[in-house]
Amino acid sequence: MTKQISSFAEYRKVYKNSVENPEKFWEKQARTFEWKKKWDKVLEWNFDKPDVQWFVGGKMNITENCLDRHLKKRGDQVALIWEPNDPSQSYVEYTYKELYQAVCQCANALKANGIKKGDRVCFYMPMVPELTIGVLACARIGAIHSVVFAGFSATALADRIKDATCKMVICSDYNSRGAKNIPVKEIVDEALKKDCDSIETVLVHKNTGDKVKMKSGRDKWWHKEVDGQKKSCKAAKMDAEDMLFILYTSGSTGKPKGVVHTCGGYMVYTEYTFRNVFQYKKGDIYWCTADIGWITGHSYIIYGPLLAGATTIMFEGVPTYPDAGRFWHVCEKHKVTHFYTAPTAIRALMAAGDHWPSHYDLSSLKVLGSVGEPINEEAWNWYNEKVGKQNCPIVDTWWQTETGGILISPLAGLHKLKPSYAMYPMPGIQPCLVDAEGNELKKKEAEGLLCIKFPWPSMIRTTYGDHDRCKQVYFSAFENMYFTGDGARRDKGGAYRIIGRVDDVINVSGHRIGTAEVENAINEHPLVIESAVVGYPHEIKGQGIYAYIITEEDVDDVAAFKKEVHAEVTKVIGPIAKPDLIQVVPGLPKTRSGKIMRRILRKIASGESDSIGDVSTLLNPEIVTSISDGNSDAV
Ligand code: WT7
Repeated sequence: MTKQISSFAEYRKVYKNSVENPEKFWEKQARTFEWKKKWDKVLEWNFDKPDVQWFVGGKMNITENCLDRHLKKRGDQVALIWEPNDPSQSYVEYTYKELYQAVCQCANALKANGIKKGDRVCFYMPMVPELTIGVLACARIGAIHSVVFAGFSATALADRIKDATCKMVICSDYNSRGAKNIPVKEIVDEALKKDCDSIETVLVHKNTGDKVKMKSGRDKWWHKEVDGQKKSCKAAKMDAEDMLFILYTSGSTGKPKGVVHTCGGYMVYTEYTFRNVFQYKKGDIYWCTADIGWITGHSYIIYGPLLAGATTIMFEGVPTYPDAGRFWHVCEKHKVTHFYTAPTAIRALMAAGDHWPSHYDLSSLKVLGSVGEPINEEAWNWYNEKVGKQNCPIVDTWWQTETGGILISPLAGLHKLKPSYAMYPMPGIQPCLVDAEGNELKKKEAEGLLCIKFPWPSMIRTTYGDHDRCKQVYFSAFENMYFTGDGARRDKGGAYRIIGRVDDVINVSGHRIGTAEVENAINEHPLVIESAVVGYPHEIKGQGIYAYIITEEDVDDVAAFKKEVHAEVTKVIGPIAKPDLIQVVPGLPKTRSGKIMRRILRKIASGESDSIGDVSTLLNPEIVTSISDGNSDAV
């Protein structure tokens, strides 16, 4: 491990040095890890193709760095604490040694079931330790993990399995989430009926123990396959640029794409940012409340913390079960020092009342984190006062599935904070703002489209099975730059404030949802002719989903129709993509070339019909008044 940055002045110095000499800077970080063979070259890059390679020719295994490397020094230190959904059930701890052994056993079971280096393994699981164990077991033997958030539907799961031609699915029997018991295995069975021919084995972890159907020859129990295995397993020798995982995420158009991350650079970057952003110190207890189905869970529950030898908590439940004090109860119980969550959770808990955080002893807290969406000042202040007691720096961390790790964030306690600002770039990160034509805005104080000018180790390498899509989406908008899809402001001091997506992606409770995907799902309803989906400001969720729908015949009972639309969306994507409001409309505002003018629809949905502006270029300008008049009828 390199020394942690420990003052703002030092950050300035390190940052300057890192951009003047990026290869030297990252090489220094990389040297602190265990490599089976040293790299021949630090970096090769070309944003046009795109082709980015870090630590070229280096050989390593990320799990040796997460686990084996720590055994001598901290084998008996707790690596993972698992807090169950039901607070009356006891929690589980794994020391580094125990986690190492569990991972090896699972890795041996994967091998025994025909999984080889390069094979894809899909995970569809609740937040149980076996998910972390399974993910690391894949990395141990060089299999590529593709974790699918367990809230996605059978159809969405099947799409992801097919896209990555996975050989195995690892799931649980059921998922206990809040008061619900979700039949996970049944959803997997349904998905596998949809032409998932590549799947040979379904490995089922017994979680609740409720009855499930097992298909003979295909379905196997985790405990039968894993428990008897040897507790050591040779780590596969991986090239720094071999794939580590695929993670699906939504974009403006089409189906979700499989973002690919590779072994070496991802390892170096997640460890470095974890230690520096959170200023993690030995003995600290770190808790990130994200789900491992999203990138935050990959990078900052599993890999970053374990690479740094930290103690990381995995929480199975939800913030409001059994009541809105659960997060604070868990903080008190495990003496959490670092707490990292999403603004949507903060807003929901803020709405539940101040008595919840004040009822628990939160004195162990040292650092608070925020991720996933812009945090509004009100939520920031509440977090700071009621949770942090004005004594804990808040790190508002901006990054994306594609970036692999945090790119813009304060370093806890070192930066003077400005609410709703993600502040400054991490060492090695070269952000810039451009106008619509791609001209860089050189003035310090500016607002524009956020791009990154230089590669960093954990950046996206490709979109699985479709490299051209990666080029089109991220590297074609502006020459020689990675385009983030976000708009941002920069103040006089160079601090960044993220404004939000400038494309057709909406951020609902920190979940990234493509409007096109939701439209496709709505259009499955037999009555629907066409639909258009936009985001609008929502008090708790950040953004809500607003759907304008043209139907074949008049809809008398819109509330009943909404239920049917919800069922359709739940079936195709999952409940997270259900529209909050729907409005049945006679038509949609279109340009002469037939493109829907979403700008207008966003204005109406946000209650800003007064400032729509010029509509004369529309094919059907009269429709705007009609839609805006009907806005109050949305349900
Ligand atoms: C999008 C990426 C980063 C892991 C979780 C989400 C938005 C993310 C922030 C922040 C404002 C943020 C951006 C980004 N976003 N963090 N701190 N402040 N906006 O990953 O699902 O890939 O979504 O989330 O719009 O582009 P993701």
